[in-house]
Amino acid sequence: MAVQSVGVIGAGQMGNGIAHVFAVAGYDVLLTDISRDALDKAIALIDRNLERQVSRDKITPEVKATAMGHIRTTQTLADLGQCDLVIEAATERETVKQAIFEDLVPHLKPETILTSNTSSISITRLASRTDRPEKFMGFHFMNPVPVMQLVELIRGIATDEPTYKTLHAVVEKLGKTSATAEDFPAFIVNRILMPMINEAVYTLYEGVGSVSSIDSAMKLGTNHPMGPLELADFIGLDTCLAIMNVLHDGLADTKYRPCPLLTKYVEAGWLGRKTDRGFYDYR
Ligand code: CAA
Repeated sequence: MAVQSVGVIGAGQMGNGIAHVFAVAGYDVLLTDISRDALDKAIALIDRNLERQVSRDKITPEVKATAMGHIRTTQTLADLGQCDLVIEAATERETVKQAIFEDLVPHLKPETILTSNTSSISITRLASRTDRPEKFMGFHFMNPVPVMQLVELIRGIATDEPTYKTLHAVVEKLGKTSATAEDFPAFIVNRILMPMINEAVYTLYEGVGSVSSIDSAMKLGTNHPMGPLELADFIGLDTCLAIMNVLHDGLADTKYRPCPLLTKYVEAGWLGRKTDRGFYDYR
């Protein structure tokens, strides 16, 4: 199936990055969020990030102008009804995602491919609540989306081959690379990354090292671009905790037990960069 128009649900850090890369690749993007303020902020951020790419000679000013012209916004979910592909990138909470799909599905044309950018939740379960499990897939981008090369493709139990092939081709058109994962909790990237981040929080909790020594050790000792605690702040500590809970519940193994310190930070509202406070203080 040919994809030209793409609906993106959620204008947060993942949603605006996804809108950005689709617009640069020439797709018509309709970005939706319940908050007008979030949509305005997302457009301003996409403009800034595209400008950053222009200033570093990654794209021309013409590509930036064309990309901005490809993006429209709406607060009405029903406006996504005619899109060829819809990508849900809302909060990482299953009830929120299911409520969105229930509102959206009656408006969709039959051939629309429906996807979720979930970083951990069962694709099969999300798909089963829609009218099109065979046209439903996990479509997982990495943050920051304009920079990261990988997109995880996750097939639910009912996903059909044409849907998989269409999304595989879309990833190539974006200039990115896909890795295909089976539908198990947190798929590939977060199955491996989150226990590492959680272990870094345990390392802090048990007093093995300070925030800066843990991050320096991993940056300089293993050539990671960011230390695990800095990366946790970047991703959002609430998202990290939500993914650890999905691993713990879904795989029923104590090795995935979220560190109590991670839980405490989330309870305090210290969610990382987005709240200006996490393992680091950004105020
Ligand atoms: N939009 C566009 N370009 C951006 C950008 C954005 N939002 N953020 C950074 N860039 C570009 C910069 O323009 C720069 O481009 P050039 O190399 O062409 O000059 C490049 O990215 C590097 O940026 P900076 O020089 O500003 O900063 P840096 O060298 O410190 O790199 C980083 C920043 C790319 C974020 C790097 O630290 C990094 O790769 N960190 C790890 C990120 C990571 O692991 N992401 C995955 C998280 S897990 C996930 O997303 C899955 C999940 O479900 C939780």
